[in-house]
Amino acid sequence: MSETIFVTGGAGFIGSNFVLQWLAKKSAAVINLDALTYAGNAESLAPLQHNPKHQLVQVDICDGDKIASLIREHRPTAIVHFAAESHVDRSIADPGAFIRTNVQGTLTLLQHAKSYWSGLDTAAKESFRFLHVSTDEVYGSLGPDDPAFSETTAYAPNSPYAASKAGSDHLVRAYHHTYGFPTLTTNCSNNYGPYQFPEKLIPLMILNALEGKPLPVYGDGRNVRDWLFVEDHCSAIRTVLEKGRVGETYNVGGNSERHNIDVVTTICDLVDEMSPNPALESRRKLITYVADRPGHDRRYAIDATKISRELNWQPAEVFESGLRKTVEWYLNNGPWIEHVRSGAYRDWIRQNYDERVPQ
Ligand code: NAD
Ligand code: TYD
Repeated sequence: MSETIFVTGGAGFIGSNFVLQWLAKKSAAVINLDALTYAGNAESLAPLQHNPKHQLVQVDICDGDKIASLIREHRPTAIVHFAAESHVDRSIADPGAFIRTNVQGTLTLLQHAKSYWSGLDTAAKESFRFLHVSTDEVYGSLGPDDPAFSETTAYAPNSPYAASKAGSDHLVRAYHHTYGFPTLTTNCSNNYGPYQFPEKLIPLMILNALEGKPLPVYGDGRNVRDWLFVEDHCSAIRTVLEKGRVGETYNVGGNSERHNIDVVTTICDLVDEMSPNPALESRRKLITYVADRPGHDRRYAIDATKISRELNWQPAEVFESGLRKTVEWYLNNGPWIEHVRSGAYRDWIRQNYDERVPQ
């Protein structure tokens, strides 16, 4: 009998990249569970329209009855859990939505997955995996000379988003420790690449630069993030699913720490090169420093020694080539961009940026 895995949040940015990559490389079918919130987009899965191994089911992970019945019907051999509210600025505006999906939703999945797993025969029980996709933001903020986050760094989440992800990580840990449920957790740095919703730094800056709009840099622009090309994150998740030790956590990073302002100037130069605009001498002129994000973490950095040494995983892409591919993708995918920029998107842009006075 052919195998099936569940992917939650597989219509979002990383989830859709994961599903596309999975079905290109693996034989197990994918049942894709996604509520299709503002961040979920079935169009990102268009290449799978006629693929019998992919089924998108619109479902909220907080809906326990529906989750239980889908698990009973499809009998997955693994669950890869991406579904989440994922944008820090939105978590500052509305923390409740983050607790509901990220904490309550993860608990609901764990409850029903564990109940199903408990009834499996010994072999199926041993090979079943629940992989929880999380973030480096649970570790808090680093000073300029602090060592990078490792798997033993103490949790110190600073935003409502990070706190909700920390809560979900702890629940996953507790399910392994208490019930022996076969979990794996990955904590990854900032992703970028195709299909990212243009509320996040890189796609927002690419689109604003293309359209000659201001490029809103929070604070002094000297905050540091580690950047990983999304396809490398997906390959790390597959590696952990196949070879990771049950109950363990793995940090995933791109060895690409950059100041925000350097990311933005690089995007300006790439857009100038690939889509010149004679009316604008340089997109760098569009950079506008705006009021900072409250509680803005200064620096994130990942020590990925464990996944590299134990599982032999390394990122394939370097930041500059990955960013070039990303700018190209946004230049070539006008209809996708047009469709995700709904009325709700425009409302968010107004809410988040109109209140940020230029500094
Ligand atoms: P995203 O916001 O692009 O996508 C989230 C997806 O989850 C969407 O398709 C949305 O419709 C779905 N969803 C939201 N609430 C749901 C619910 N209640 N039930 C079912 N589906 C729901 O997020 P992303 O950037 O692709 O991130 C995916 C995961 O990876 C998240 O768990 C996030 O915390 C984690 N992560 C993201 C990054 C990053 O840089 N984007 C880095 C590290 C970890
Ligand atoms: P973001 O993409 O929101 O990811 P995260 O907050 O999860 O790291 O932001 C990346 C960095 O860019 C972060 O330091 C905040 C900053 N930023 C801006 O300066 N301007 C913007 O318009 C956005 C969305 C982010």
